Amino acid sequence: MIHHLVQRIIMPEVRIGDITEVVVDGIVNAAKPSLLGGGGVDGAIHAVAGPHLKNACSKLGGCIPGKAVITDAYDLPAKHVIHTVPPRYGHCGGNENKILRSCYIESLLVAKKHNLKSIAFPSLGTGVYGFPKISAAQIATQTVLDFLSQGNNIQVLFIVVSEQESELYLRTLGEFGF
Ligand code: AR6
Repeated sequence: MIHHLVQRIIMPEVRIGDITEVVVDGIVNAAKPSLLGGGGVDGAIHAVAGPHLKNACSKLGGCIPGKAVITDAYDLPAKHVIHTVPPRYGHCGGNENKILRSCYIESLLVAKKHNLKSIAFPSLGTGVYGFPKISAAQIATQTVLDFLSQGNNIQVLFIVVSEQESELYLRTLGEFGF
């Protein structure tokens, strides 16, 4: 008898919206190394989570670019926040792509370690930190698809802020055969 082993991955989803409203096991924050809050998505997450989030972050002792740490999500509808520090584009000695890829990998590994079943990413690094949108979307989608194709079952949502960015992500996923 021939056994067919068909490996299927849970398709990543692209959604336009505000990550602070997304109901998942973990939302990813584009944090600064101090983890003490900032502008952009970081500011939005801290504003909705409330002061307990900053208190929890202050006990972690910071985070270096490309790494990720996890906290509770307090008043957010998500269960946890995974804080990762993207590269400041043009300030990382040419290691920007590697560091951004590491942000996605480390966030996914933290999610796996804590048994999270769903995770939502913003477009890390592409706001205040200046990472070009197109290459950021390629790194985001490729890294996630690699992780999922290694037998990891987690629902991944890419939360984007515009129709144009949604099309970019869908086109990029399409280029990888999805
Ligand atoms: N939901 C989803 N995406 C969002 C939201 C939101 N509520 N708000 C912004 N974005 P940025 P970075 C998108 O600047 O470039 C902070 O001050 C935004 O359109 O938030 O990674 C930290 O403290 C962009 O596409 O983060 C760090 O110092 C993406 O989120 C630094 O900025 C990331 O933009 C991190 O810089």
